Amino acid sequence: MTRKVLVVYATKMGATAGIATAIGDELRNGGHEVEVCEVGGAGPVAKYDAVIIGSAIYLRRWRPEAVDFLRKHVHELRDRQVWLFHSGPIGPDKDQAQAMPRNVARLARKIGATPATTFAGRLEQDTAKGFLAKRIARGNLAEDSRDWVRIAAWANEISAAISGPLQRSSDGFLSADHSDGASCVPQQTLADGTEQQAGNSTTPA
Ligand SMILES: Cc1cc2nc3c(=O)[nH]c(=O)nc-3n(C[C@H](O)[C@H](O)[C@H](O)COP(=O)(O)O)c2cc1C
Repeated sequence: MTRKVLVVYATKMGATAGIATAIGDELRNGGHEVEVCEVGGAGPVAKYDAVIIGSAIYLRRWRPEAVDFLRKHVHELRDRQVWLFHSGPIGPDKDQAQAMPRNVARLARKIGATPATTFAGRLEQDTAKGFLAKRIARGNLAEDSRDWVRIAAWANEISAAISGPLQRSSDGFLSADHSDGASCVPQQTLADGTEQQAGNSTTPA
């Protein structure tokens, strides 16, 4: 069954946007209606049956706009199917699952979401932003460790999970209010030079 899915992400250097886009593409291939946008550009959450939220990790923390999104929408998210992911580790640690920051873990518990899935990240000279990132990107840690096969497999699991009957919420069976509200709006040009547009499919960098 076709579901309406929102994939939102918080990024600084574009890697997490690429992951979110790949997830959106896979869900679309699974027959779902998907919008992919930055957290700040999301339309009303009540429009969607399922929401996927991802953030880049910096100094073990989520981007503040992603935390704000969780906090602001805690009630709507509690009544929908929600998945979380974060993008971070590179180099020798690229396969290490990262703990959710405490504030994110607290919000995830309130929402009833399972812990965030970790995807390896990217740090490269061409896309690095900020003094520290540019400096690290000159060293041997610099690489694009994003694992597109693993990301697609995760999205496929979600696709299968939402295709069945909707979960029961405290108020009865979930049903998204599809009637109103603007769709998400593009927020920025990605660090890898592509324009991220609401609902559009782009090839991951
Ligand atoms: C200053 C700095 C701090 C970072 N801190 C972490 C961290 O604590 N944990 C982690 O897994 N990755 C960390 N990373 C790696 C980034 O999360 C990774 O490059 C990520 O893919 C960037 O995502 P974005 O391009 O969407 O902003 C850090 C990178 C930089 C430059």
